[in-house]
Amino acid sequence: MTSINANNVLNLKQLKEDIHSKKAKIGIIGLGYVGLPLAHAFVNNSFSVLGFDIDESKVNKLKNSQSYIKYIPASQIAEMNNTGRFQATVDHAQLREVDIIIICVPTPLTKHREPDMSYVVSTTEAIKPHLKSGHLVILESTTYPGTTEEVLKTILEKSGLICGQDFFLGYSPEREDPGNINYKINTIPKVVGGDDPDTLEMCVALYGAIAAGVVPVASIKTAEAVKLTENIFRSVNIALVNELKIVFEKMGIDVWEVIEAAKSKPFGYMPFYPGPGLGGHCIPIDPFYLTWKAHEYGISTRFIELAGQINTSMPLRIVQRLAEALDERFSRGLRGAKLLILGIAYKKNVDDMRESPALEIMEILRERGAEVFYYDPFIPEIEKTREHMELAGMKSIGCTAEELKKIDAVIICADHDSVDYNFIVENSSLVIDTRNATKAVNHHRERIFKA
Ligand SMILES: NC(=O)c1ccc[n+]([C@@H]2O[C@H](COP(=O)([O-])OP(=O)(O)OC[C@H]3O[C@@H](n4cnc5c(N)ncnc54)[C@H](O)[C@@H]3O)[C@@H](O)[C@H]2O)c1
Repeated sequence: MTSINANNVLNLKQLKEDIHSKKAKIGIIGLGYVGLPLAHAFVNNSFSVLGFDIDESKVNKLKNSQSYIKYIPASQIAEMNNTGRFQATVDHAQLREVDIIIICVPTPLTKHREPDMSYVVSTTEAIKPHLKSGHLVILESTTYPGTTEEVLKTILEKSGLICGQDFFLGYSPEREDPGNINYKINTIPKVVGGDDPDTLEMCVALYGAIAAGVVPVASIKTAEAVKLTENIFRSVNIALVNELKIVFEKMGIDVWEVIEAAKSKPFGYMPFYPGPGLGGHCIPIDPFYLTWKAHEYGISTRFIELAGQINTSMPLRIVQRLAEALDERFSRGLRGAKLLILGIAYKKNVDDMRESPALEIMEILRERGAEVFYYDPFIPEIEKTREHMELAGMKSIGCTAEELKKIDAVIICADHDSVDYNFIVENSSLVIDTRNATKAVNHHRERIFKA
């Protein structure tokens, strides 16, 4: 027993030293929107990284210095490969070669809107046989408070190794905002929680090497709760502004102008913007992780659920506005109308269409008998998704004057910066603008309907 403890003290001391000297080798599991930029940040800061993914095509692309994420250029992958400090693999057995394991796998919802922990569980099961004394394991996936201790610790301790003694466990939420050029890993502070003070100290040192700052919190649970709080805050405020939009619209007030003026207040107000609904892998999903966990404590999360209802009703609301506009302008209905969805990504300047409200709008329009096309410079073709199978295989059409002339209405769902909105309005008879993308268009404003 004494010798085991002595070994553990040595392991801990060694790991701390290796983190400080950047000799610690980092394994990142899940090389998606979160894991790949994280790998880049560590490599860029002199650490060696071994990336793991079950998707062989991603691993092969990385090996060939190709990127599969639009805003991460292939040159960045080549740069990582050229350092000789980055490798990607599908072989979890290589986890034994690393000192620190960071998990960045998906945490979606099931079709009953409950946390789908299958990726976290299968990843932890895959780590278990390769877990060794001295490993530091950190979860970055967004999840409900309690996951790291209840799920990861339970599974990993089945290896016979003990948390806090043989291996160490931490949690650090990812705050990456894909496509946001103003904030990257090195300009966003990182929140960290550890299972014990030594682990917390190691997490602080590790993330301190790549982040703008580190915010240590009292427990892993607290760190898990921080991430959910941030995303619930967004979801609730977006719902609020979506509701205000509807009220102000009826009163003949432009909600966008209201927000512009309100944000001149230097305190007590933060702008959120309305839109066609919520999208992406975080805001529509994460709040419901807390809702689910709160039920275990006999508490219902009414704010979260109300925000969810308002936000998910927005696509239908946009379709109603479109129908009103078609009727008002051309005395026609949706059936047989040729419609162009402009921007199907869930937000501007990204190639990510997960949970995108544009897809929901396209489906409703098709059900109502409209002929639907789309243009998105970031998404040439709609890939298969569980929820929108019937849209799979659709291809982006060209956004030429000739194509626009054939269209009855353009619906702007994602306001990509590369689109020329003057050109769109110039060549379209009706534009439904859900993002205020046409704010700077001066000619033919009578063709624009804000929605
Ligand atoms: N995308 C974002 O903007 C964002 C921001 C903050 C937090 N998050 C959270 O980060 C986590 C990851 O999100 P993401 O957007 O990077 O997901 P993603 O789908 O882009 O990437 C996840 C990757 O994990 C891989 N994977 C799944 N199971 C695996 C396993 N057992 N072993 C190895 N690889 C496996 C997948 O093949 C995929 O490449 C989620 O919990 C998400 O909520 C995402």
